[in-house]
Amino acid sequence: MAEKGKVVLAYSGGLDTSVAVQWIQETYGLDVVALTIDMGAQEDLPGARQRALDVGAVAAEVADARQVFVDYFCWPALQANALYEDAYPLATALGRPLIAKLLVDTARRHGAEAVAHGCTGKGNDQVRFDVGIRTLAPDMKIIAPARECYMTREEAIDYAKKHGIAIDVTRKSPYSTDENLWGRSIECGAMEDPWNEPPEDAYRWTCDPQQAPQQPQYIELGFEKGIPVALDGEELDGPVLIDRLNAAAGRHGIGRIDLVENRLVGIKSREIYEAPAATVLHGAHNALESLCLTRPARRFKAQVASQYADLVYDGLWYSGFHQDLRAYVLSSQRSVTGEVRMKLYRGNAVKVGVKSPYSLYNRSLATYDEGDAFDHEAALGFIELHGLPSRIQSRCQHETLYGADAGARILPPEIRGSDADRN
Ligand code: ARG
Repeated sequence: MAEKGKVVLAYSGGLDTSVAVQWIQETYGLDVVALTIDMGAQEDLPGARQRALDVGAVAAEVADARQVFVDYFCWPALQANALYEDAYPLATALGRPLIAKLLVDTARRHGAEAVAHGCTGKGNDQVRFDVGIRTLAPDMKIIAPARECYMTREEAIDYAKKHGIAIDVTRKSPYSTDENLWGRSIECGAMEDPWNEPPEDAYRWTCDPQQAPQQPQYIELGFEKGIPVALDGEELDGPVLIDRLNAAAGRHGIGRIDLVENRLVGIKSREIYEAPAATVLHGAHNALESLCLTRPARRFKAQVASQYADLVYDGLWYSGFHQDLRAYVLSSQRSVTGEVRMKLYRGNAVKVGVKSPYSLYNRSLATYDEGDAFDHEAALGFIELHGLPSRIQSRCQHETLYGADAGARILPPEIRGSDADRN
């Protein structure tokens, strides 16, 4: 008998992907290799591996992708200040292209003809997976059981029972969640009504700021070229630094984000995020850039940040445009080295101090005290030229259009207080 073909399935250990193992075998007649990826939030990896084998996978692998995820996905997004719709640090969106890559690599190693993921047909994640996989391996077949044969939760449970798949209904939660080191995404349940405050049990990583400690905690973050390298003077590996920061900031109720966002597939959805470490790091990184980048660089980088966030959200990680934006971002970070002091207190992470060997802040230019080195005379000449176009416009256009009291005509009538409002 000819050997059966293989498919590598991104396996989380939950009900849906366990059902998927069976469903793929039944529907496609393929052997399933389960791949569980550790990006820092999986609780029981050996358990997930065993479970995959129990539900019928022919092989089950666990990939430790924490370091790669942080170095090549989280840090670039942080350096870019990438926050989708000015709020979401993109944890889920950043994880998908890495999973796509690991699926493809594992499929090649096993000589598999297909890869599979558990996304439904209405989310962003299917797009990110499919676009990533097809960019990296155009020949690879993609199977998406939840998209091809949507089952409600009850149907999935029935299917599992019928096929002898052990299910732990006590773990049943009303929410759909996704987690990795960079954050946790929570959807469904009561939050589907955007008028409803998210119930407290939606949160796992952060406490209610009202219950947070009365005492603030001060922390110091060290950055090198825009990358966090130290916490409170101790040099730390990325995943460790993020772990510690998630715990510390979560304890202070920091990093709860409540967003009605524009999905790529055209619908608005209400999603809650918990991203304590990412929130603190974005705040600190931004503060350091305020010290080290010039005004035009800051302005331009803000535009790049928004493009970068959209690109990540839209699943275009493996695009040439990303390469180009990344090159700019990387170059922009050459002076973003230094330390930031943050105060963690009751839901807020506030910058309280910042310093850098490349700081553009010059105290003798800024001071109002003794030692002022700013050339006040030069300011007059500067104003003369800076205001020149406005004065010319006033004379050549406003006066012709509105008459003598031209300047006042720019104001709304209620507050003109001159002859101009009477004619
Ligand atoms: N809305 C987020 C995104 O598109 C998260 C998606 C996954 N959310 C979830 N609750 N499973 O990146």
